[in-house]
Amino acid sequence: MPDTTPQPVFLADYQPPPFLVESVALTFRLHPTATRVSSEIRFRPNPDATPGHDLRLDGEGLNLLHASIDAMPLDARPDTTGLTIPAALLPEGAFVWQAEVEIAPEGNTALEGLYMSGGMYCTQCEAEGFRKITYYPDRPDVMAPFRVRIESDLPVLLSNGNPVASGAGWAEWDDPHPKPSYLFALVGGDLVSTPDSFTTMDGRHVTLNIWVRKGDEHSTAYAMDALKRSMLWDEQVYGRAYDLDIFNIVAVDDFNMGAMENKGLNIFNSRYVLATPETATDADFASIERIIAHEYFHNWTGNRITCRDWFQLSLKEGLTVFRDQQFMGDMRSHAVKRIEDVLTLRARQFREDAGPLAHPVRPESYVEINNFYTATVYEKGAELIRMLRLLVGEDRYAAALDLYFNRHDGQACTIEDWIAVFEEAGGRDLSQFKRWYGQAGTPRIDATEDWQDGQYTLTLRQHTAPTPGQPLKEPLLIPVAMGLIGPDGTEFLPTQVLELDGPTLSVTYDNLPARPVASLLRGFSAPVVLDHTQPPADLALLLAHDTDPFNRFEAGRSLARDTLHAMIMQTAAQPDPQFIDALRIMICDDTLDPAFRALALRLPGQEDLAASLSEAGHTPDPTVIFQIRQKAMHAIATALKAELEKIAQDMETPGPFNPAARDAGRRALRIQAVAALAYADHGDAAKNAFAHANNMTEQLGAWSALLGIGAGAQEGAEFYARWRHDRLVMDKWFMAQIMFAAPDTAVALTETLTRHASFDWKNPNRFRAVIGALGANPAGFHCQGGAGYRLVADWLLRLDGVNPQAAARNSTVFETWRRYDSDRQTLLRSELQRMASHPTLSRDMTEMVARMLGE
Ligand code: TRP
Ligand code: ZN
Repeated sequence: MPDTTPQPVFLADYQPPPFLVESVALTFRLHPTATRVSSEIRFRPNPDATPGHDLRLDGEGLNLLHASIDAMPLDARPDTTGLTIPAALLPEGAFVWQAEVEIAPEGNTALEGLYMSGGMYCTQCEAEGFRKITYYPDRPDVMAPFRVRIESDLPVLLSNGNPVASGAGWAEWDDPHPKPSYLFALVGGDLVSTPDSFTTMDGRHVTLNIWVRKGDEHSTAYAMDALKRSMLWDEQVYGRAYDLDIFNIVAVDDFNMGAMENKGLNIFNSRYVLATPETATDADFASIERIIAHEYFHNWTGNRITCRDWFQLSLKEGLTVFRDQQFMGDMRSHAVKRIEDVLTLRARQFREDAGPLAHPVRPESYVEINNFYTATVYEKGAELIRMLRLLVGEDRYAAALDLYFNRHDGQACTIEDWIAVFEEAGGRDLSQFKRWYGQAGTPRIDATEDWQDGQYTLTLRQHTAPTPGQPLKEPLLIPVAMGLIGPDGTEFLPTQVLELDGPTLSVTYDNLPARPVASLLRGFSAPVVLDHTQPPADLALLLAHDTDPFNRFEAGRSLARDTLHAMIMQTAAQPDPQFIDALRIMICDDTLDPAFRALALRLPGQEDLAASLSEAGHTPDPTVIFQIRQKAMHAIATALKAELEKIAQDMETPGPFNPAARDAGRRALRIQAVAALAYADHGDAAKNAFAHANNMTEQLGAWSALLGIGAGAQEGAEFYARWRHDRLVMDKWFMAQIMFAAPDTAVALTETLTRHASFDWKNPNRFRAVIGALGANPAGFHCQGGAGYRLVADWLLRLDGVNPQAAARNSTVFETWRRYDSDRQTLLRSELQRMASHPTLSRDMTEMVARMLGE
């Protein structure tokens, strides 16, 4: 059925719920095509709302069997989005709603509500999936305790809270903590777990389970270890303990996103749970650690304190991302983590902020809320909290968080509540800072310097370009951490934080013995683009002597970017020798963390270069970018061959595989060296690394290196033969070939692989590994003639028919279309228009495509 014209929801229209829920009791009789859900919901009028409202319950795709109020049968007439009971039919005061509905989880391919994956039942309710399970006021500011009974022959039956009772074919669960419906979860399956336990700081004994399908039980140890470390960390750093007797995690293969923080019953995409050294890379281990922590941390930031409405999404997501970033820094390396986070922020969030999908951290309207689980809400949201902490200091940050937890426990809150605790505990007015939540776009800071008679003046100017719906921008409060380095490498001025709160700011430093080199935006103290032209010699000085590790990295990055830009713009034929020297110094410095050196050795990617060229006012050509990058890699590898060979040898990690940061960093540097060497040794080092690899990091890294120089066919065949039965490794097999395919073969290869027997396109991981991988190969996707665009659009339309949420997420590959030349723009726009005019396009895709077209 085609969707009718989608209507936007506005933040300004918020009204408190007319009825609150005192308790919910649900009974599920599980059946693939006819699951029965009975509900008993105790309502009472909300004292904070005007009286006399009708009762409106959300419900979609439900077959209503019967309904009653206070045991009086009702002739309820549902419409397509729910049902309304006129106020005249409602008793005064509290009442009990009872209903029974039938739903069909087996046919639910949208992976929202109750669905089946690999023979098990599972749920996904955030943001608005509970309405596909039963009639309910499905909004986060309605919180209630839930009691759930599940009837099924399956051996493992789970829901939120604590187990109360069970018998043959049934189980009952009770969740005493009031929660919104989006945190409801239910699982039923033939699952196994290796139980563990954790004792909280207040003495509570908690049983821990990670439930997986039989055969996967040997791949959960790392996730369990990460969970226990997360629980301890939240106690030690935030003083927050777990609050139930059991914590269950379930891994499912078909899942739209990474994982979900349902109270006491987290559900995970299996790729973020299952790991062994043979099948998972170091990057996979790190993602598992981060996402396990993220979902666990939501227990306080999201569940105990939730969002009043979906516009406040960053209240829980920005904060929880910030917390998982802190955790990862503590577990691994703060310097390396910060660099990685900034690289992702720039790649995903700056890209979003610079294009047609730009929106504020707190949007003002949406058509489909699932389209707003974005890098802006998550990653930029986390940056805002990092800035707040910098502005008030660590101690007052801790005090503000204590106040937040104490004041708002059990409530559904807003960004205003959040800012208020910082104003009170931080002791300062934050009304200007709050603009960050409402203003979209990445601010640019232009820095200019003046040096005269021992006096140094730094001038900062801020500017934010218009974004869709926001033509005018106001100045933001931007903390700029900076220091000054002398020409001999000593620090003239240690880090201080300038507060740029108007259009410009000038600061002067007197009595300096020599002209200093400025180290600006240390630690990337604000999510901005810094325009500060520094000559290569100054960048080389910062790279060698800056006391701020982020800016040492950044100096190397600027040199790399400048040299690649010069080659692309044809003002240089070869990489600048000063850049190659600087690179040599960084990668050979044994006092530096290998993980840091590995990052330094990674050239800016094709997409980074396209973005930075376009930022500088040029039209990027993906083909040229690809060729120049290859040429630069060749020159670097030739110049640094001896050094790279030595690194590849020195960084071997003998002994049993250890996923911890130290060995992971050594493997990262070794693989980077092997991959670079491929450009100078025909892939000999990579072939050797592949042949001897005893872990997935080195096996996949070496194969990818070979693919990058157009080789690797033999290794690919071996990889396939060995891993064809492992679904998570097969995602890597699909993805690597397409991502690293030569530009002129990428589309044909993708097309071939879509006909592979293992291309299960309804599985979101597999779709991303094939169709998403083509988007991650810019020169291939943007090849002449638009075949890449057509292929991706065809598949998005096909996926949209079964899973609109996944289609919409994958559609952002088109968001940069205005960046390119007019031929490419025409082709890209016509694919967007073709999708827009598709007769049965979902609400999700309709909104995305319209926004990308600029309508
Ligand atoms: N709240 C989840 C998280 O950030 C993410 C999430 C939102 C999600 N909607 C979802 C996950 C839909 C899966 C499906 O941890
Ligand atoms: Zn989250």
